Amino acid sequence: MGVVAEAWRPPPQLNKSGGGGGGGLWKWWRSLLSGGGQHKRSVMWWKWVCGFMLFSLAVISLFTGHVVSHLEWAQQLSKRSLLVWDMSRKEPIDVWKSKYSKFFYGCSDRGNNFPPAVQEHKSNGYLLIAASGGLNQQRTGITDAVVVARILNATLVVPELDHHSYWKDDSDFNDVFDVNWFISSLAKDVTIVKRVPDRVMRSMEKPPYTMRVPRKSTPEYYLDQVLPILSRRHVLQLTKFDYRLANDLDEEMQKLRCRVNYNALRFTKRIQSVGMKVVKRMRKMAKRFIAVHLRFEPDMLAFSGCDFGGGEKERAELAEIRKRWDTLPDLDPLEERKRGKCPLTPHEVGLMLRALGFANDTYIYVASGEIYGGEKTLRPLRELFPNFYTKEMLTNDELKPLLPYSSRLAAIDYIVSDESDVFITNNNGNMAKILAGRRRYMGHKRTIRPNAKKLSALFMDREKMEWHTFAKKVKSCQRGFMGDPDEFKPGRGEFHEYPQACICQRPFSYDKASTDDDDEDIPEEVHNNTSSGHGHLSSVDNERDEVFPD
Ligand SMILES: *[C@@H]1O[C@H](CO)[C@@H](O)[C@H](O)[C@H]1NC(C)=O
Ligand SMILES: *[C@@H]1O[C@H](CO)[C@@H](O)[C@H](O)[C@H]1NC(C)=O
Ligand SMILES: *[C@@H]1O[C@H](CO)[C@@H](O)[C@H](O)[C@H]1NC(C)=O
Ligand SMILES: *[C@@H]1O[C@H](CO)[C@@H](O)[C@H](O)[C@H]1NC(C)=O
Repeated sequence: MGVVAEAWRPPPQLNKSGGGGGGGLWKWWRSLLSGGGQHKRSVMWWKWVCGFMLFSLAVISLFTGHVVSHLEWAQQLSKRSLLVWDMSRKEPIDVWKSKYSKFFYGCSDRGNNFPPAVQEHKSNGYLLIAASGGLNQQRTGITDAVVVARILNATLVVPELDHHSYWKDDSDFNDVFDVNWFISSLAKDVTIVKRVPDRVMRSMEKPPYTMRVPRKSTPEYYLDQVLPILSRRHVLQLTKFDYRLANDLDEEMQKLRCRVNYNALRFTKRIQSVGMKVVKRMRKMAKRFIAVHLRFEPDMLAFSGCDFGGGEKERAELAEIRKRWDTLPDLDPLEERKRGKCPLTPHEVGLMLRALGFANDTYIYVASGEIYGGEKTLRPLRELFPNFYTKEMLTNDELKPLLPYSSRLAAIDYIVSDESDVFITNNNGNMAKILAGRRRYMGHKRTIRPNAKKLSALFMDREKMEWHTFAKKVKSCQRGFMGDPDEFKPGRGEFHEYPQACICQRPFSYDKASTDDDDEDIPEEVHNNTSSGHGHLSSVDNERDEVFPD
């Protein structure tokens, strides 16, 4: 019983005294950050330099694919040391804004040698795509569809949105996205048409060939396996199109992904205007606000196999829903929680935000669909942050026409979350990933991803420590999970989450930034340990996330 139930108690007594936590984590960080032994300084520094050079070479060759000059190398080095230096000082984090964001910007222009789009009459055929999943999964599918069309020199037909998937939303592409803008803004990259011309349809002897490619297929796979069929049949349909293209592509193709995702895919004017109205209403009340994206639907919770502290009733209800999937393994809820696999409860999200330093008068916008337990589940969060708003509270009639369409409602949450000063999620689903990537591209706007693995232990022990101690520990757990520019680790995470090929660095003066940076007492563990912390949040071991149809 009780361990997790604790986190569900109504408004927390923030000043409960207790055993005063000699928490291992905090000690660990302290020992890390105080640099364990000054005498080792120069040895450490050189080890670090060598390690770093290898590391940066790996990053650079992986993600730019070109040979770097000494200058670039030095720039990378200065950036890295600046950031690690900052971490090593335990400088308080500005929760509203990443200090280093100003050194980076999104960049996705075509290279000079990028050939123009292949025209319709010269193309290898028409590519039909059915993008599956919810709004954000479809977004990744559409993005990859454009790139696949480019790889195949195909003419892309405006993708279809799968109506049979989980969300059961029968919106078409042009109900959600601005289709003319989509076509025109990509005209130099890929030729896109609204439909296969009648003349082509009439000349076809058989219906379009339909196939499903394996997940994360490489460009070579498309050229070897798909192109011959396209050339022969001239019209080819790819179904269930989500995550069907590899993460790693050459830089030009990654930049194309960014042009599609961050520029070509705009919501319709109608959706955009409702979304911006909500944003304006938030801004009218507060200069800055947090968007909290909560996924807490009953089926999602059931799927996780976790316990959320609702006792026997909850266990029975979730177990019933769980029967819907007959292949799910038996999971130990406590074990899942320790592994950081459980979405934070709304109450836990609130505690975490307060611990990080957001005051109780902060305005929060809660983006969510159905919440298991409804108002009762949300109450603790609302008590921590009384200035609590949702799209329903901030609209009158504007939302009504959208209500029957889950994708269009999700689009409103997407817009407000995108515009928020700080974005935080309790989960690691598609929307969380897509927005995390987008916000990096848009100037590293503060995006907080709970370090669930470490936080889960803290939440379980919360009663044993004072609020002050708890808050300090939360802050240290969250280093490296705050959406800062240095969080990317090569080889981890999906491109949509870490669009590294589309992030450029502004020239900046090393001299100026490093005036008091000669004390390079950088504990190497900071380097290799922060990276290890990401595993569970990134795509590396989240097959289950991919199976849950969001
Ligand atoms: C696509 O077209 C370009 C020229 O624009 C050509 O170099 C390339 O080989 C073509 N690729 C395929 C798969 O047709
Ligand atoms: C917010 O916190 C302050 C103390 O920091 C307290 O005086 C005030 O009553 C709180 N406001 C609400 C709405 O809880
Ligand atoms: C960090 O790196 C050092 C030296 O390279 C190594 O001894 C240590 O085991 C590493 N720690 C982790 C957690 O990988
Ligand atoms: C950091 O590294 C130490 C040993 O180098 C290891 O014991 C510890 O578990 C690591 N922490 C994380 C979060 O990986």
